[in-house]
Amino acid sequence: MAQEVRGVIAPGKDEPVRIETVLVPDPGPGEAVVRVQACGVCHTDLHYKQGGISDDFPFLLGHEAAGVVESVGDGVTDVAPGDFVILNWRAVCGKCRACLRGRPWYCFDTHNAKQRMTLTDGTELSPALGIGAFAEKTLVAAGQCTKVDPAVSAQVAGLLGCGVMAGIGAAINTGNVGRGDSVAVIGCGGVGDAAVAGSRLAGAAKIIAVDIDDRKLETARSMGATHTVNSRETDPVEAIRELTGGFGADVVIEAVGRPETYEQAFYARDLAGTVVLVGVPTPEMKIELPLLDVFGRGGSLKSSWYGDCLPSRDFPMLIDLHLQGRLDLAAFVTETIQLDEMEKAFERMHRGDVLRSVVVL
Ligand SMILES: NC(=O)c1ccc[n+]([C@@H]2O[C@H](COP(=O)([O-])OP(=O)(O)OC[C@H]3O[C@@H](n4cnc5c(N)ncnc54)[C@H](O)[C@@H]3O)[C@@H](O)[C@H]2O)c1
Ligand SMILES: [Zn+2]
Ligand SMILES: [Zn+2]
Repeated sequence: MAQEVRGVIAPGKDEPVRIETVLVPDPGPGEAVVRVQACGVCHTDLHYKQGGISDDFPFLLGHEAAGVVESVGDGVTDVAPGDFVILNWRAVCGKCRACLRGRPWYCFDTHNAKQRMTLTDGTELSPALGIGAFAEKTLVAAGQCTKVDPAVSAQVAGLLGCGVMAGIGAAINTGNVGRGDSVAVIGCGGVGDAAVAGSRLAGAAKIIAVDIDDRKLETARSMGATHTVNSRETDPVEAIRELTGGFGADVVIEAVGRPETYEQAFYARDLAGTVVLVGVPTPEMKIELPLLDVFGRGGSLKSSWYGDCLPSRDFPMLIDLHLQGRLDLAAFVTETIQLDEMEKAFERMHRGDVLRSVVVL
């Protein structure tokens, strides 16, 4: 029988979010119901509310979460009730051409729960990124649940469900940062700082953090940045070149999602270096670059979705490194809040006051 829980709904474009009663069906074949313990507030939740992602209102927001599996449907063998899990938004299919080529992190057919959660009047909800975890419980595909060591707190674990994984993975998976590399990260919010932390983890020798906000640069330093550049005051391309012997960085990670910062990343990398775009642009943005520079500078221009992560491989590994004291995931949690404080959390995010506000349930 469907259960009634409280959840944060975005009812329509730019309308304030509100708490409503959500009906969560019992899990069907291949599905799981998860009791959510913590869920971080990500920029993407705000994009959903603003109608920037799709028009499928009403949305059940929240997608950066950890919790405990309450029940599973037929045929679910990888997780069981009582398991502590991080929810992921890329449950790989194992059958598409990317999966069959042995590159499941590019899976083109990731799946979500088949049944829909609804409001009490039967209105179907669209869960953000197929998760919808600003709710006491949520229904997902069992493959969206990744078991990790329960010794970690839920508020820390949940961060790997989106932005922090995106940033760390942009460095260690997409950018393939290695020992001794020079890295520059443009935009040091939650995602960029995670790219800084990931670069440190990978053994980068020089990590240059670029932002327009000094508060962000200070945090980036505590995450492992060796140098900082305020690009409101200083030309970041020149500064990065100066700090790298006149050449540019081996890997430049763009974590803003704007044409001008992408162009900075393009010119701030060394010849044959790598640019990783992890910031998400909007549909109207365009870039113009001399094709000769694209050719002549060589190297690779990549984009990174969800840090090209494989949840089953990366989540448990990063949680273990955190528990060993080698990756400070807790530093990303600026504040913990309640479900009914979502609008305030969006405002603080907009002002740049937080890396992550995390709802605890
Ligand atoms: N690729 C993915 O899978 C993925 C996943 C999650 C988030 N994202 C995207 O990553 C981006 C960053 O997310 P976030 O949560 O860190 O956001 P955020 O708002 O916390 O951080 C953005 C940072 O960029 C800085 N900034 C803004 N304009 C700048 C400029 N012109 N030059 C330098 N710095 C500038 C801001 O001061 C801020 O520190 C967003 O576009 C988000 O949508 C991507
Ligand atoms: Zn696939
Ligand atoms: Zn997100």
